[in-house]
Amino acid sequence: MLSTLIYRSQLAGSVSPEKLKALVERASIKNAKAEVTGILLYDGQHFFQVLEGSVENVHTVFQRISQDDRHFNLIELMRDYAPARRFGQAGMALFDLRDYQKHTVVEALLKRVTLTDERIRHDRVVKFLRSFVEGRDKETFIGIAPASEWTLTTPLTVSAVPPLQPAADQRCEFALQPIVDAANRRIVSCEALIRGLQGAPPADYFSQLPEGERYQADLHSKIYAFQLARHLGLREQTLSVNLLPMSLVMIDDAVEHLIQQIRQQGLRPEQVVVEVTEDEVISRFDAFQFAVRQLKAAGISLALDDFGAGFAGLSLLADFQPDKVKIDRKLIIDIHRSGPRQAIVLAILKCCQVLEITVIAEGVEKIEEWLWLEGAGVRYYQGFLFARPALNALPAVSWPARRP
Ligand SMILES: Cc1cc2nc3c(=O)[nH]c(=O)nc-3n(C[C@H](O)[C@H](O)[C@H](O)COP(=O)(O)O)c2cc1C
Repeated sequence: MLSTLIYRSQLAGSVSPEKLKALVERASIKNAKAEVTGILLYDGQHFFQVLEGSVENVHTVFQRISQDDRHFNLIELMRDYAPARRFGQAGMALFDLRDYQKHTVVEALLKRVTLTDERIRHDRVVKFLRSFVEGRDKETFIGIAPASEWTLTTPLTVSAVPPLQPAADQRCEFALQPIVDAANRRIVSCEALIRGLQGAPPADYFSQLPEGERYQADLHSKIYAFQLARHLGLREQTLSVNLLPMSLVMIDDAVEHLIQQIRQQGLRPEQVVVEVTEDEVISRFDAFQFAVRQLKAAGISLALDDFGAGFAGLSLLADFQPDKVKIDRKLIIDIHRSGPRQAIVLAILKCCQVLEITVIAEGVEKIEEWLWLEGAGVRYYQGFLFARPALNALPAVSWPARRP
């Protein structure tokens, strides 16, 4: 099957025209042997390459190219399948945009394309090429410094308070994971993640609950999260707790009960953020709206958790605007290398900026992911890069720091 891959990258250092020519000649011979065709666009700063051929061969060539230190910040923009090659005649040809005048460059490029005019008009690859040549999406090019220029500080224990000893009748416990403002090295919030006894996975706790007790147990369990916050003396930070929206709907006076629990532990409702997931919201939207009104009236903020991982997506924001949106790890993973993820996250950021919704990137594990997100304007993060959840305690936090 004929597959296509497009990526964009940045030149590392400088390259003479002769060296570039030699690189492409060598590449062309190698590609021809593997029946890989394509084109390499160059604007003096960025490369933009189309590779087409069998899935395996394109993969092999791309793996090799990815490891080449003459360029960096490789971003995969597209992987697709096609009935015909766009560059049927060339193993690899160089197209240096600087050799052309602005108004002739697209025409010159299209002359190289071996598709029919009809196909050219609708082809996504051709559209990608045009957009790069015309410099249309330049504002989405977020260049990041090499990760090797960064390191992490040794994890610093934030709280001298020993872990909370769970009570004898407690059926669940909580682990805390900080949400951080990385640029200012500040913990802004802590998410209380439910665990079974002695830190057992959440499934262990939920599986032993009778179906009829689900909502009652969900609501009741929060008392342990609030107790933990009191034990650790959380004052500056908010405490984020996950709640099934239906718990607020099915249980009489649920919100009052929640507020009472919060106050009993010396916390303020304004200090509490209730996180709900997209899926739970859309399955009973009217009931959910009712619960939201009560929480907001009590001063509690709302965060939409796992955003982008469910079925509702951006359309949910049309009907309901939370105070915070937490972008799911599935969209964050390797974002520095993925064109589609970058496009989606930039759209979420733009939308949330207009709606004045705070964005938190969840599941950040790599320095490169953080660097790209920082470049895109994200300010708040949660993930193993900064801290792993700690059972009944506030975990130590690591901060990214430039190497001296
Ligand atoms: C921007 C760029 C594009 C490249 N394109 C190709 C290519 O299409 N095919 C290829 O075999 N090598 C390509 N290379 C070179 C490979 O990264 C790698 O250096 C080469 O395949 C190694 O071959 P060699 O061991 O024979 O020198 C490219 C390098 C750069 C920097």
